[in-house]
Amino acid sequence: MKILVTGGAGFIGSNFIRYLLAAEPDAVIVNFDALTYAGNLASLKDVESNPRYLFVKGDISDPESVKEVFANHQPEIVINFAAESHVDRSILSAAEFVRANVMGTQVLLGAAREFKVSRFCQVSTDEVYGSLKPGDPPFVETTPLQANSPYAASKAGADLLVRSYVHTHGLDAVITRCSNNYGSYQFPEKFIPLFTINAMRDQELPLYGDGRNVRDWIHVLDHCDGVWSAAKKGRAGEVYNFGCDNEWANIDIAHLLLEILGKPQSLIKLVKDRPGHDRRYAMGFAKAARELDWQPQVQFETGLAETVRWYQQNTEWWSNVISGEYQSYYQRQYGKGGVVG
Ligand code: NAD
Ligand code: DAU
Repeated sequence: MKILVTGGAGFIGSNFIRYLLAAEPDAVIVNFDALTYAGNLASLKDVESNPRYLFVKGDISDPESVKEVFANHQPEIVINFAAESHVDRSILSAAEFVRANVMGTQVLLGAAREFKVSRFCQVSTDEVYGSLKPGDPPFVETTPLQANSPYAASKAGADLLVRSYVHTHGLDAVITRCSNNYGSYQFPEKFIPLFTINAMRDQELPLYGDGRNVRDWIHVLDHCDGVWSAAKKGRAGEVYNFGCDNEWANIDIAHLLLEILGKPQSLIKLVKDRPGHDRRYAMGFAKAARELDWQPQVQFETGLAETVRWYQQNTEWWSNVISGEYQSYYQRQYGKGGVVG
């Protein structure tokens, strides 16, 4: 079973590759990643010599490189994690989000058609549904798309392209939409690793606005399990939501992290709000439970404490990210070649 995973050097992609190598003894994985600032091969150090794993450096929006990787490896399944993923960056500059997330998805869809892949899985997000008010029911798969940030708009555009390739070209594709992930190897620009690392270093925790924005936090391995269940068992053309029935206000998570780390609550600093900041996300996942037999397994307080421990025990990983050293890892390990395995 040959699987092309795009964006496998990022947070969720690297966890997914590790998950899949363990879960599917027949899986051979090609990780296709452009190694942007968010791509870090150090996150895959423990699997890099696995004979069922291969890394190919390349950009999903570059038709030549995409064609080459499909021609050389003939994947049966494609799982597209590759994306610009950080909302704040999309507010500063949206162009790269359109190029990577929209154009990149279109290039992959074209190659999936041309090379007749049997299943395409687009990894999307709850942010395409917009924002909930307190008391609103959670998002379901039929909730209208109301993307509010340029990041969310680019993901919604990609989702619609996937839908169009199913409808028009008969491509066998599914779309997964998940809530906020936490876990090991998350880039420290995101809320939980940023606050954890800042607290460990006795630095302020910059909480946006009133700190009362709500997210439905899910452990990254539960998300990986959901993506793989949808890729294996999902019906072509369908969308599957994943969430954890686990809504937390940001300020309560900040309190909990400081408690776990034994640091003073005075480290929390309210700062200027994110423009257009979505107030609340919550995902209804009854369809995934019913059709894919999927349920989240990791209890939040346990998963968060384990995640904090991971950042405490892996200071080298995040120190290299903060210093920028991680970006020379690929060159040091592999020289300038495009393929490693
Ligand atoms: P990330 O930013 O940690 O990783 C993204 C990866 O994609 C990096 O390795 C980067 O090098 C690669 N990449 C970016 N542009 C590329 C391109 N043009 N070609 C090839 N590779 C490219 O992101 P993440 O948090 O791991 O998210 C992965 C996917 O899951 C994204 O599609 C995101 O929208 C989606 N998602 C994320 C969350 C979350 O909470 N983090 C939740 C739901 C969905
Ligand atoms: O919901 C899924 C999405 O979750 C994914 O699609 C995105 O790729 C991922 O980045 C994430 O988006 P969010 O914007 O929800 O995550 P972020 O970690 O940036 O922020 C989480 C919450 O914390 C949000 O309400 C903003 C707030 N925040 C964030 C940062 C970085 C702060 O208060 N301070 C901060 O410094």
